[in-house]
Amino acid sequence: MSKMVAIGDWKTVKVEIGAEGIAWITLNRPEKRNAMNPTLNREMIDVLETVEQDARAKVVVLTGAGDAWTAGMDLKEYFREIDAGPEILQEKIRREASTWQWRLLRFYAKPTIAMVNGWCFGGGFSPLVACDLAIAAQEATFGLSEINWGIPPGNLVSKAMADTVGHRRALHYIMTGETFTGAEAADMGLVNKAVPLAELRDATIELAKKLLEKNPVVMRAAKHGFKRCRELTWDQSEDYLYAKLDQSILLDEEGGRAEGLKQFLDDKSIRPGLQTYKR
Ligand code: COA
Repeated sequence: MSKMVAIGDWKTVKVEIGAEGIAWITLNRPEKRNAMNPTLNREMIDVLETVEQDARAKVVVLTGAGDAWTAGMDLKEYFREIDAGPEILQEKIRREASTWQWRLLRFYAKPTIAMVNGWCFGGGFSPLVACDLAIAAQEATFGLSEINWGIPPGNLVSKAMADTVGHRRALHYIMTGETFTGAEAADMGLVNKAVPLAELRDATIELAKKLLEKNPVVMRAAKHGFKRCRELTWDQSEDYLYAKLDQSILLDEEGGRAEGLKQFLDDKSIRPGLQTYKR
């Protein structure tokens, strides 16, 4: 494993950056199964903004300490204690959760991978789906537990399900609160794949390394283009995606497009159908 540098001084989140460019962001309240309390939500905004600007971090992995990815929103600190406070406090508390759980993550400037190592409940589904890619341990346990303790799914959890999982299965889990495994999450398209827990980290590194080979400016345009056009018409998508393509050529200081074409057409050193151009 490459040498890791720890950065920051957050109470609820650990951040380490490896020499090869993988930033490991670990939700770090294992004794509370990494439940997302207001402190963690506030810190995660700072963490994501800090890592985005750190040139050493090229691909981000979001994972959890101990045997949980996250047990979802903190039922005590995010719900019960806020209920007792002034009504307007809820606005701030909800905004801070949304800010990192999907606003920042969905259009993050660097590729993101959710590495689901264990329990993943309720509110955890927003950051799970907002990450670009996700790998789960086969042994991980997922659940939309809200119905079990008396609320419909909160935050953007239902939207995250609607974006990834088919209608019937989404409603089944929303309505029954039954749990499902990492292997089932892969089968329903909630995560890209599931591997045995013992292989999870290596599989994540292998995927991250593939992303590290690519041109980062083009990568950003590609993932943002896909996510935006899911919500646009075909005509709007054509306009937007060509604008994005032209923007990426303009911003790409390494001139990837010209280099890729040269290596295929002139040098005959690569076949882009089978590999990325040499940077
Ligand atoms: N909010 C607040 N605290 C939580 C929490 C959550 N979502 N999930 C776990 N915790 C706390 C427990 O209260 C307990 O705290 P304590 O040691 O101070 O009593 C500690 O984490 C360990 O939880 P425990 O239930 O003993 O762990 P477990 O390994 O037996 O079970 C879970 C793990 C995830 C199955 C179980 O904790 C659980 O059902 N959590 C709630 C999941 C949920 O409904 N999330 C809501 C999403 S919106």
